[in-house]
Amino acid sequence: LESGCLSIIVLGASGDLAKKKTFPALFNLYRQGFLHPGEVHIFGYARTKISDDELRDRIRGYLLHDKDNSDLSEDVSEFLQLVKYVSGSYDSKEGFDLLDQKIAEHEFSKNSREGTSRRLFYLALPPSVYPSVCKMIKLYCMNKSDLGGWTRIVVEKPFGKDLESAEHLSTQIGELFDEPQIYRIDHYLGKELVQNLLVLRFANRFFLPLWNRDNIANIQIVFREDFGTEGRGGYFDEYGIIRDIIQNHLLQVLCLVAMEKPVSLKPEHIRDEKVKVLQSVLPIKDEDVVLGQYEGYTDDPTVPDNSKTPTFATVILHIHNERWEGVPFILKAGKALNSRKAEIRVQFKDVPGDIYKCQRQGRNEFVIRLQPREAMYMKLTVKQPGLEMQTVQSELDLSYGQRYQGITIPEAYERLILDTYVFMTYCVIFLCSTIPLRIRGDQQHFVRRDELKVAWEIFTPLLHRIDNGEMPIIPYKPGSRGPEAADELLAKAGYVQTHGYIWIPPTLA
Ligand code: BG6
Repeated sequence: LESGCLSIIVLGASGDLAKKKTFPALFNLYRQGFLHPGEVHIFGYARTKISDDELRDRIRGYLLHDKDNSDLSEDVSEFLQLVKYVSGSYDSKEGFDLLDQKIAEHEFSKNSREGTSRRLFYLALPPSVYPSVCKMIKLYCMNKSDLGGWTRIVVEKPFGKDLESAEHLSTQIGELFDEPQIYRIDHYLGKELVQNLLVLRFANRFFLPLWNRDNIANIQIVFREDFGTEGRGGYFDEYGIIRDIIQNHLLQVLCLVAMEKPVSLKPEHIRDEKVKVLQSVLPIKDEDVVLGQYEGYTDDPTVPDNSKTPTFATVILHIHNERWEGVPFILKAGKALNSRKAEIRVQFKDVPGDIYKCQRQGRNEFVIRLQPREAMYMKLTVKQPGLEMQTVQSELDLSYGQRYQGITIPEAYERLILDTYVFMTYCVIFLCSTIPLRIRGDQQHFVRRDELKVAWEIFTPLLHRIDNGEMPIIPYKPGSRGPEAADELLAKAGYVQTHGYIWIPPTLA
């Protein structure tokens, strides 16, 4: 069981990611009792020369959401007192020496419980500075070995732009830190329903015999946003929708949907299976890709007028293994579309020898709605209630808002940050009571280096063809479904749309 001083250092403290995601997640963990004053110290580090109070003022407004109606101002003030600021550059000894001194002051102070020096460095920074920052941490800021403990770093995408640059970055960081010290965040792995996928697949008898090529016709993993690249055009234009969403978020979801059952729930066993399924993905063919760019994208002053960066993509992947041979995995992501949602849509094959065929019922589908309004529902055909013998599409619906009223679903970042320093497990005492135990970091929901490498291997040839202008980019109207060619590709892949049926999320009683 770990205790003692925990220092969380947010590098790039005044940037967007830190303000919008990292500090709010830390605040929520604090409110739920996962960051104990006296034990935890939070440091912001950045180049700007500001005081502790100035940093606190900059982040204060981001800590509360509109949905928080209770008066939390006291909690906010108490939390902000844990946050200190150190200014320095990302490649200078002076800055990191000073940071080390500030951290050490708390580790040795009388208020700290004796024990460990645990240091978590959260790099809310552009990847171009990861190598120099990691080097500075390694040289000047490691945990004090006489106190024990550990040093970990948390990094976030983009991890490179293609296989070569990603491997280069991984090698640079890998020379300084061991894999168990590196936490590569993909925030989709922190979403409630993504974390539910393995439970769903492997703890439910009825999915086991169905989850394969004998029964499933196709699987879609879809991400849609109803807004453009507002304010992020400069970043986005360098990467495009495949690097921004598909190669990481959607591919991670694909792994959990398609992988084989792991030997156990140990993080390495799970990650081993993810790597294996990625290794079975066949090279992407041009005819399995539709790319688009929404009209008006280049009006953004930070985007070049002649940009050919895709803001929409449908890519079909084929997995060459016993379970999935012949089942298309359709990954689709787009900005400035007609709705905002992320979902997994598993479409089953037609009923063989169907005696109700003439009544044109749709196919069975199992839909996992990741956001908004988390839900899973199974589309099925039933008898229309009443005197007539007519079939109709309906659903078995597990909508979280209705089923789990009063339970707040944690933000992805909150859960993932907690995983970096706490591993919650349950210890059974006596026969039926359990107590939570806090042990160590858990890397199950983080991307391992070899996973990242295979993910880049899958997409790099296609990305190079796009970068070289060899792939057509079809314009589409903002607020539309995206290019029509994408729907045609979907139909070609065998997806059968159900007409006359729309899932309506249940309203709360
Ligand atoms: C980020 C992308 O990783 O994920 C953004 O860079 C995108 O472009 C965002 O908007 C979507 O995250 P979420 O959690 O809102 O689906």
